[in-house]
Amino acid sequence: MSPRNHAYFLAGAGDEQTSAVNESAFRQAHVTPRMLRDLRGGTPETTVLGQKLAAPFLIAPFAYHRLLHQPGETATARGAEAQSIKMVLSAQSSEPLDEVRAVGPGSDWFQLHWMGSRQATLELAQMALAAGFTTFVLTIDAPVQGVRDREIEAGFRLPPDVSAVNLAKFASPSFSPRDDAQSVIFDHVAQILPTWADVAWLIETFQAPVLLKGILHPEDAAQAQRIGAAGIIVSNHGGRVLDRASATLSALPPIVERLGPGYPVLMDGGIRRGVDILIALALGAKAVLIGRPIACGLAVAGDLGVSHVLRLLSDEFEIAMLLSGCATVQDIRRDLVYLKL
Ligand SMILES: Cc1cc2nc3c(=O)[nH]c(=O)nc-3n(C[C@H](O)[C@H](O)[C@H](O)COP(=O)(O)O)c2cc1C
Repeated sequence: MSPRNHAYFLAGAGDEQTSAVNESAFRQAHVTPRMLRDLRGGTPETTVLGQKLAAPFLIAPFAYHRLLHQPGETATARGAEAQSIKMVLSAQSSEPLDEVRAVGPGSDWFQLHWMGSRQATLELAQMALAAGFTTFVLTIDAPVQGVRDREIEAGFRLPPDVSAVNLAKFASPSFSPRDDAQSVIFDHVAQILPTWADVAWLIETFQAPVLLKGILHPEDAAQAQRIGAAGIIVSNHGGRVLDRASATLSALPPIVERLGPGYPVLMDGGIRRGVDILIALALGAKAVLIGRPIACGLAVAGDLGVSHVLRLLSDEFEIAMLLSGCATVQDIRRDLVYLKL
């Protein structure tokens, strides 16, 4: 990656403490493997929201794949398709959503941003639904961009030929700062940010399942469940928004405890090895999402690079299951992992 792309794709916000603890939390978790179990007929397959997954992970939504490779999101989707892994397409995709959706059956999850109003957000969701996306992820943890010092230092900006093409038709929100404004940032953005009532409205109005991505607090998780979210994704946006936010792996167990075993809780942040997926599942995640390693695969070798990273993660996960005595994902239980956080 160029130094600018490196700063955009791999850095975290602020002092990068949250992006660092996302990864280091996994190293504080220790697996206590079980031996001599009958592993015949074992499989890494699982079911999430009634959908069969070849392994319990998906590609996380991330913006502007064309910065890394030409083509961008369609190449990533092809790499995912080759390994039967699902991809969540970012609202900030740099290729048209219908072209990405056409790559194959697995590319059917779409990530939504709040578009400034209920109607505009619903319109984006309807657009993706009409293109054949079936499952939706509303990201709620990035109402404003984090403090991205490394990007600023590197002089990162989008080149003229890369943009969020699917959002082009949406007007950028207009601000009317008051003359007596006390706060530059609050006065500019707070008026167009969604609240729980807006998100509850979207979930009720829109005809397809919506998961909420970017939850760390158990009470927010309970609120998401109450308003009918199809599931949640425990996430801090890979440490790109609030630096000092807790590691997602630390946030996961109290959330799972609060919501009970049946509700779909997914997580992302810091997963770099197949055994990390096993650890997240032991702590109660039904599946995980993976961001930066996929960006690296795409940057190195396009669809083949993405496919290769996914294969490595799948193989490592299966090996971790075998070595810890788990024939199925249901066997990956809480007592398999000792957390030293
Ligand atoms: C460069 C970059 C761009 C991202 N863009 C989006 C986005 O458009 N929408 C979104 O919901 N999350 C976005 N994310 C967050 C990811 O979906 C995910 O939460 C995070 O990357 C997971 O952490 P990991 O990279 O450590 O696996 C982005 C992450 C990165 C690294």
